[in-house]
Amino acid sequence: MSVNENSITMRSIPTLNTLRLILRPFELADGPRVQTLAGAWEIANTTATMPHPYPDGVAEQWIAGHAEGFAKGNNLPLAVCLQDGTLIGCVSLMGFRTSHSRGELGYWIGKDYWGKGYCTEAARELVRFGFAELALNRIFGQHMSRNPASGRVMQKIGMKHEGCLRQHLSRWGKLEDLEHYGLLRCEWLAAQACGMRT
Ligand SMILES: CC(C)(COP(=O)(O)OP(=O)(O)OC[C@H]1O[C@@H](n2cnc3c(N)ncnc32)[C@H](O)[C@@H]1OP(=O)(O)O)[C@@H](O)C(=O)NCCC(=O)NCCS
Repeated sequence: MSVNENSITMRSIPTLNTLRLILRPFELADGPRVQTLAGAWEIANTTATMPHPYPDGVAEQWIAGHAEGFAKGNNLPLAVCLQDGTLIGCVSLMGFRTSHSRGELGYWIGKDYWGKGYCTEAARELVRFGFAELALNRIFGQHMSRNPASGRVMQKIGMKHEGCLRQHLSRWGKLEDLEHYGLLRCEWLAAQACGMRT
């Protein structure tokens, strides 16, 4: 058994806190809010799988699968909420329970809340959770080359650019280049020891 498989004892999706945000499990009642926020073209456009238009019922179906997805180690999705409870987006860690001891970071933030550092704050905390609580060895992420804001988030949380996967993804009928980023546990620990904000 790998370190990762051995160390996951959590039975339910956790709630995490940052200075400005609460990262909590989604609830079925969040469905309409998710549909509104994620249904915007500006969100779907640069994601790999978000439907557009966003059909009724899909958000509720997605949320209903979270507990099982977490139990199997397929996904840890967290609702990104302001301190007043307003849901503004989602940050997730996918495929974290494999013998590879790695997880893939993903996120979206409602367009009215862009540019305020919220994604960076949420992603930084989920990366901390992945290394400190799930004992992962590597966290990676990828974004379309035409989506530099996502790349900037990965840079700000200390991930290293590992290369470009040319014409790797077909989306909206067009082949997209993907930028690949990664962060190793040893790099994250070293940055923590130096007091750097990764
Ligand atoms: C990517 C996304 C999550 C960023 O959310 P956010 O809360 O605005 O992110 P932050 O505010 O933490 O950081 C964004 C950074 O990108 C920068 N940025 C924004 N547009 C940019 C552009 N066109 N070129 C370069 N940098 C850009 C911002 O200036 C900021 O960096 P800074 O703090 O150094 O100024 C948001 O744009 C989004 O949801 N996009 C649609 C969904 C998506 O693409 N998800 C990611 C799929 S890989």
